[in-house]
Amino acid sequence: MNIVSAEFLQSNVSYDKCPEPNMHEYAFVGRSNVGKSSLINMLLERKQIAKTSQTPGKTQLINHFLINGKWYLVDLPGYGFAKISKSKRGEFSRIIKDYTEFRQNLVCLFVLVDSRHKPQNNDLNFLEWLGEKGIPFAIIFTKTDKLAKSVKEKNIEDYKNELLTDWETLPEMFITSSETGLGREDILNYIEKLNKEVKF
Ligand code: GTP
Ligand code: MG
Repeated sequence: MNIVSAEFLQSNVSYDKCPEPNMHEYAFVGRSNVGKSSLINMLLERKQIAKTSQTPGKTQLINHFLINGKWYLVDLPGYGFAKISKSKRGEFSRIIKDYTEFRQNLVCLFVLVDSRHKPQNNDLNFLEWLGEKGIPFAIIFTKTDKLAKSVKEKNIEDYKNELLTDWETLPEMFITSSETGLGREDILNYIEKLNKEVKF
């Protein structure tokens, strides 16, 4: 799929303030600093349409983008950032959880995990919660440019094995780098396929 147009629409604190749920929607979620906003910029080939930062906690709201005038892409706040106050951490997870559970037009939630690290408990707990709620998701491994090929492959294999202790089948997975553009075509093709297949 070609990205012909990408337009930032609005930021919201709650799912019920978001645009009318009348188009296919795809959201990007994961731990703070995992690379959600960078990945969105890479997919859209726009340098700072989504705001990024080296400091975790940059994205704090639900940010909607309209792509090709046809579907929504959403940049979500991160979870699990230890250095912000506990009450704020709770607030983040409520924003994310309510959005994820109640947003009617959400077709697929892309859960980003850092390819450099072992599976983290809060990621695994979040995936388990998605499973309980029956929310469709895919996994995106980020920052793979920071790893040697053999380490990257081993980490991803380890991740799959960890998931298979809880899940019978593996979700769709994408291996990416926002630096090199790795994974861009695969993710955009997947979205294009779902745009055609999923009716609501
Ligand atoms: P929050 O909004 O705070 O939750 O973070 P985020 O998940 O949106 O992360 P963001 O895209 O802001 O990136 C965090 C940091 O990681 C920035 O310094 C990025 O430049 C860096 N980064 C993100 N993706 C990649 C990648 O694929 N490769 C490399 N080398 N660095 C990356
Ligand atoms: Mg962000």
